Amino acid sequence: MQAGDFVLGPTYEEMARPELIPDDIRQLAVSALGADELNPVNLFNIHWKDSSNRVRYLVFPRQVTALDVNIIVLLGSGFPSGSHKVGPAYAMMAEACVDGLIDPQVHTILAPSTGNFGIGAAYVCSLMGFRSLVIMPDSMSRERYERIRRYGGNLELTPGTESDVILTLQRTQELMRNPSNHVLAQFESFSNYRFHRHVTGRAAVEAARGVGNGRIACFVSAPGSAGTLAAGDHVKSVFPDAHVVAVEPYECSTLSTGGKGQHRVEGIGDKMCTLIHNVLTTDFVAVVHDEDAVRALKVIRDGTSVLEELGVGHEEAVALRDQLGVSGMFNIIAAARMARWLRLGPNENVVTVATDGFDRYHSVIDDLDRRSLETTPNVLHRWIRDAFAGPEDRMVFDCRRKPAKERLFAQKQVDWVPLGWSVERLETLKRQEAWEAEYEKIGAYDEKIRAARGNAR
Ligand SMILES: Cc1ncc(COP(=O)(O)O)c(C=O)c1O
Repeated sequence: MQAGDFVLGPTYEEMARPELIPDDIRQLAVSALGADELNPVNLFNIHWKDSSNRVRYLVFPRQVTALDVNIIVLLGSGFPSGSHKVGPAYAMMAEACVDGLIDPQVHTILAPSTGNFGIGAAYVCSLMGFRSLVIMPDSMSRERYERIRRYGGNLELTPGTESDVILTLQRTQELMRNPSNHVLAQFESFSNYRFHRHVTGRAAVEAARGVGNGRIACFVSAPGSAGTLAAGDHVKSVFPDAHVVAVEPYECSTLSTGGKGQHRVEGIGDKMCTLIHNVLTTDFVAVVHDEDAVRALKVIRDGTSVLEELGVGHEEAVALRDQLGVSGMFNIIAAARMARWLRLGPNENVVTVATDGFDRYHSVIDDLDRRSLETTPNVLHRWIRDAFAGPEDRMVFDCRRKPAKERLFAQKQVDWVPLGWSVERLETLKRQEAWEAEYEKIGAYDEKIRAARGNAR
């Protein structure tokens, strides 16, 4: 809906419950999805549900995990632009618009990112009538740069890969000297926290209602910005016994050991504890080898017959091929590891997230093919078995006690004081009330969005 010079989409409540979107707009949005990608009405497709208001999820086949537990995977690929990262991008833009901080005649929107957030931001900017500049490392998968350009976003590349995101933040700081630039700072923006706690959290609870005992025993998400992990705060408010698990690559295990290094899981493991990571509610950090996720994804993609040998039905195996990306596979491996570690039973549910689908990882699998001596069915069989049979004990870190929390707070201080955050502000984030206060701003933002839409021309 046009509101002044910019276009506004849904409120937080409408994203959590798209059935509340006025019927005529919902119909238009549903018919534009995929068919008319750059139509602004697609802003009303930013939610987890299909046209029948069912959350998009799958239950990962037990024959592959060899575990008697439900691993529920929320599917982000159904969001416009192909990943759920478009959600926080929209939330940040909508809040900035109604707060009067940005004007399409004046501002260029900067989006430091390693990919999906940049894609989502370029997309949302195009729909809302803003120019965008995505600042990202130069060694990400080529599919990402192509999409950003397709959505009209400009690109500025900094050296490195996923673990060099700090260079993108530093470059963004330089660009911010120009007052006509406005940054979408996903690692420190509570709009990101609000979106996932309210929208993804509710999707997780709704998906689980129809599976097993209808409850969530564990919510698992590998943090990039740690926005998705905020869904865990909602999960805990509904199921207080649920465990929330952050996952990180063994090759860059910053949260569990302070370790930093390059790894192959795009979108996560950014060598930091992000500002919006609520470490108070993170119970465990699970560690997974990056290559296990890439290899397991190869099996899902090219090993349909191997999955069938394991007992997965043909149609289910074929359907899986497009639904997962590397970080989704990484999350599923961690979810299985946690299910085993927590000794969950056949009726219990672990919920995790596939941020995007396979469409942006052809080059990653091509690269694996080049690096591997052979990828015969025999090898694929070994890869998938090994991925789900990891040595879980030394790969799960318990963060429930004070010393572990203090270590994570200290990491946050190391990461954020140099970027201009005061120790006093960081201290406030050691209390849950600060997170509740941020979350409660949703009511006021929804009113402002509704009021701005009421002025629609
Ligand atoms: C593919 C992929 N997976 C996972 C994540 C992590 O999500 P979050 O930033 O919400 O922690 C991202 C973030 O960009 C991503 O692009």
